[in-house]
Amino acid sequence: MGILQDKQILLIVSGGIAAYKALELIRLLRSAGAEVRCVLTEGGAHFVTPLSLSALSEHKVYTDLWSLTDEAEMGHIRLSREADLIVVAPASADLIAKMANGFANDLASTVLLASDKPILIAPAMNPQMWNNPATQANIGVLRARGVRQIGPNAGDMACGETGWGRMSEPAEILEAIEAALGPKKLAGLKALVTSGPTFEAIDPVRFIGNRSSGKQGHAIAAALQEAGALVTLITGPVALPDPAGVKTVHIESAAEMLAACEKALPADIAVFAAAVSDWRAAKPQTKKIKKSGGKTAPEINLTENPDILRTIAGLKKGRPRLVIGFAAETDDLEKNAKAKLKSKGCDWIVANAVGPDAKGREKAFGADENHVTLFTRSASEEWPRASKQAIAAKLVERITQEFGRHDTSQKRRPGKRQ
Ligand code: C5P
Repeated sequence: MGILQDKQILLIVSGGIAAYKALELIRLLRSAGAEVRCVLTEGGAHFVTPLSLSALSEHKVYTDLWSLTDEAEMGHIRLSREADLIVVAPASADLIAKMANGFANDLASTVLLASDKPILIAPAMNPQMWNNPATQANIGVLRARGVRQIGPNAGDMACGETGWGRMSEPAEILEAIEAALGPKKLAGLKALVTSGPTFEAIDPVRFIGNRSSGKQGHAIAAALQEAGALVTLITGPVALPDPAGVKTVHIESAAEMLAACEKALPADIAVFAAAVSDWRAAKPQTKKIKKSGGKTAPEINLTENPDILRTIAGLKKGRPRLVIGFAAETDDLEKNAKAKLKSKGCDWIVANAVGPDAKGREKAFGADENHVTLFTRSASEEWPRASKQAIAAKLVERITQEFGRHDTSQKRRPGKRQ
């Protein structure tokens, strides 16, 4: 019996040209054995008809918060409570904004607010709308609340523009639904993730830092949590909310990050996505360093920071079973990544190019997308450029495969070197 057999899916279809793909999604869900009930927003009804949705779902389609017949049959509370999963596809910028801000002024937003069930959104909109800081802030709020997200993808849009905003294909959404409702593949495993930059004090007001945003590390922590792992995220200063359900430890310096990592052990999986400062001031001043009126500039003596990845990967006792490092390189990606795999003693390296692209935009640091190559000890695979969430999901899929494969041959034992 498939994962979706007899599962109740509440599908909310909001406004957007991608609404037509919801029809195919219903068909796929039904073929997989799921029961589908649909809520259609006023905007959504401009793109698909209630008749098409009800014909495919073989259920009445709900559109109106105030309809007495609807309330008698199945009110918004029951609609939201009887579902195993609520899927919003397409999720328009407007509905995402309502969700983030707790609006309940139509049936869809009321059902979502009244729900205590897992929610998956498949955003679809014009690239400018997607990139707008308002939408990104709303998405950040939803992610931090544990709302799952699939897509959007990059590509040509119906509006004639190209960019991020295309709704994921129905087959991809189906996979995400199966992942949300399926067994938690990493249940029972502990994971440690580092993320963001470190700040190394020069004096009480100044520090050495870097441009890491923490987006990739935080996305990995969230994806591991979604897969059922018990996650500790150790993060430097970032402008991101703590991911839902993840124990998040906030630190500033590399020394603090190392101490927090050691405290978080034992772990089965360790992912070092932080951009740790290689150096720190040898003697941070306790008082603010003053200008000398142009006569001399202060000299800051640097000393090397501990390599957290190398330290944890080199543990004789209590080494996580799978240790994954990152390599941000401006040149010679492959050569440097392979060298790092050896010198750091980790099992995998996720390598990404950093620095400005042909158009002068930063390729990875702070960006929403990433283009990475995964180097294991025996092979390498280049993944297509994708959102940092999609990269995180793929990495977790690979981690799951790795643990699945080892499970058949030996017992899961944290701290055991493979
Ligand atoms: O040597 P490099 O900084 O390029 O190595 C990158 C990898 O090593 C990343 O996984 C990063 O999190 C980790 N690292 C670390 N501690 C350091 C420096 C890097 O854990 N002091």
